[in-house]
Amino acid sequence: MKISADLDDDTGEENDTGNQPRLVVAVDGPSGAGKSSASRGAAIALNVRYLDTGSMYRALTWWLLQRGVDTTDAGLVGELAAEPVIEVGTDPRASWTRVNGTDVSAAIRTREVTGAVSAVAAVPRVRAHLIAQQRDIIDRADGIVAEGRDIGTVVAPDAPVKVFLTADSVARADRRSAETSWSPTSTRAEQDRRDRLDAAQSGKADDAVEIDSTQLDLDQVIDIIVRLAHERVGVPHPRQQTL
Ligand code: DC
Repeated sequence: MKISADLDDDTGEENDTGNQPRLVVAVDGPSGAGKSSASRGAAIALNVRYLDTGSMYRALTWWLLQRGVDTTDAGLVGELAAEPVIEVGTDPRASWTRVNGTDVSAAIRTREVTGAVSAVAAVPRVRAHLIAQQRDIIDRADGIVAEGRDIGTVVAPDAPVKVFLTADSVARADRRSAETSWSPTSTRAEQDRRDRLDAAQSGKADDAVEIDSTQLDLDQVIDIIVRLAHERVGVPHPRQQTL
């Protein structure tokens, strides 16, 4: 089927969108707001690719920890930022993350990586390196939903659709705690710590539509994003209509 062929082709294809704006959806917001599920679901509904930029920061962190590097040593982390080959699969039904050819999709979700990643993501050379890679992936896609903290502000400021997804901090911690083995209390403490550390790298674009997901279920959030995409970009690109 064309969709899987296209989405599996991680080299991407040159864009050929004529005069129609290319569908780039930027989804930003704090951890636990439901960005990943909503972005993945919206990408499936819109028949486009999906990019989880957080997984790239996590992949670099995993590699540094494997090498025994002190992840709070910003100078050293910056020097090593470009060393590992980090790849991501952008099929929203089967995304993956690899470091030097090894699949680390599960390994990057451990508590150890989650605890160390904010410091790594705060290093300017790390951001410069990974943002360049993210822009390249976005530029080569026919259409994409990209999630992170700075997609609408820094990575893809021209994205025609920008969403800032929030939820109140109790709801966010409850969701995270349900997905992990951590208690709600320790999840909340860890979330507050990460929110503080990630704040400098996170931002809501002036033209982003804010969605508070506290009272919404996943399908409702996906529906809002899909409707925004149709409003802003119109009918899907002809290539996607044939998928
Ligand atoms: O969304 P996440 O929890 O997987 O993100 C992992 C870390 O990477 C988190 O500390 C925030 C950071 N991050 C970032 O600084 N910029 C992004 N575009 C995505 C994630």
